[in-house]
Amino acid sequence: MCLFAITSVTGASMSAQAEQVRRGDDGQHQAPNEAPTHRVIGNETVDWSIYNGFRRYHSECHMCHGPDGEGSTFSPSLVGALKTIDYDRFKDVVVHGLQGVSNAQQLVMPPMGQNLNVMCYLDDIYEYLRARSDGVLSRGRPEKHELKPDTAAKSESACFGRK
Ligand code: HEC
Repeated sequence: MCLFAITSVTGASMSAQAEQVRRGDDGQHQAPNEAPTHRVIGNETVDWSIYNGFRRYHSECHMCHGPDGEGSTFSPSLVGALKTIDYDRFKDVVVHGLQGVSNAQQLVMPPMGQNLNVMCYLDDIYEYLRARSDGVLSRGRPEKHELKPDTAAKSESACFGRK
């Protein structure tokens, strides 16, 4: 599956550049009060989490929530939602799903807590959407991104139960 191909290609191209980036032990940029936060390097080069979040969002969420988190006719904009919901709420909705009724249209957010392609990258997806919502990342695929850090490769393997 292409996930593994991507992983090994980027893993092999690790360089000292990634080492210069200061990170927490788990590879996430942790704010003091725990919710992962984005950090955009310079004007164009995004950190690995945001880039990975962009990819994961567009494979698992965009078919409903629209490209770039902007929403669709049947699912809310997540760029908008993150202006009001916090990280805990975000996580809760993704893990357990949500079923609301609005304007006679039934909306269903499926529970994704069993989907490793979502759960192993949930913080990255959040960071990506956070950056979009905060207005520091424009639409479309980020042009340049930081190389995949070792810590991210390790926590990914651990999450998927690989050695
Ligand atoms: C099958 C379509 C579908 C998919 C796939 C999907 N969602 Fe949703 N999502 C919805 C719908 C519909 C709602 C609105 C539910 C409601 O209002 O009851 C929603 C609501 C949400 C909310 C709450 C928004 C708010 O305003 O409170 C969050 C957060 C969310 N989704 C995140 C995600 C993420 C992250 C992914 C991918 C990992 C994802 N969703 C994948 C359909 C989907």
